[in-house]
Amino acid sequence: VKPIKIVVIGSGGVGKSALTLQFSKSKFFLDYDPTIEDSFSKSCYIDNEMARLDILDTAGQEEFTSMREQYMRLGQAFLVVFSVTDRKGFEEVDSLIQLIYRVKDREAFPIMVAGNKIDLQNDRCIDQSLAQELVQRHQEFNPYCAYIETSAKTRLNVDLVFHDLVRLLRLY
Ligand code: GTP
Ligand code: MG
Repeated sequence: VKPIKIVVIGSGGVGKSALTLQFSKSKFFLDYDPTIEDSFSKSCYIDNEMARLDILDTAGQEEFTSMREQYMRLGQAFLVVFSVTDRKGFEEVDSLIQLIYRVKDREAFPIMVAGNKIDLQNDRCIDQSLAQELVQRHQEFNPYCAYIETSAKTRLNVDLVFHDLVRLLRLY
């Protein structure tokens, strides 16, 4: 099976590594260790079809983001993560998606947007409807874009967000 290159992007501290680690190793850590770059591999059946996912977990902290466009070029599908508890991270989502279109020189590309940390209900500042509106704007010209809310801590929708991204890529 040919591996699928998935690139995980988003602001610092939003949970990119937590989602990737929960998906690939079923582990979650409470402490925060900023990423420079990590990669993980996982094989699984999605709709009775074997998939091998090569997942690139990238840096969100600005001092490490100079490689962004380079790794975007390698990606076949993108997971764009923000935290529903972090307005600044949400505001970066649109420009990151625009950067994907620019680097790929395409107006449509497989992109899952994940609103993470939904277990922290009391700290939530980004409504589901606000994120859905953003994604709907993209869906007008990019039918391979979707939104899912996740918790890397409780594992809610963690498999789903990666599986749906592979499904989008299969349709693409
Ligand atoms: P960078 O690598 O710096 O870009 O950050 P990141 O996006 O990889 O964030 P990371 O996964 O390291 O998570 C940052 C912090 O948020 C850690 O302390 C995690 O334990 C915590 N965290 C991540 N996801 C969740 C979640 O779904 N719920 C809760 N409660 N905490 C989370
Ligand atoms: Mg990280």
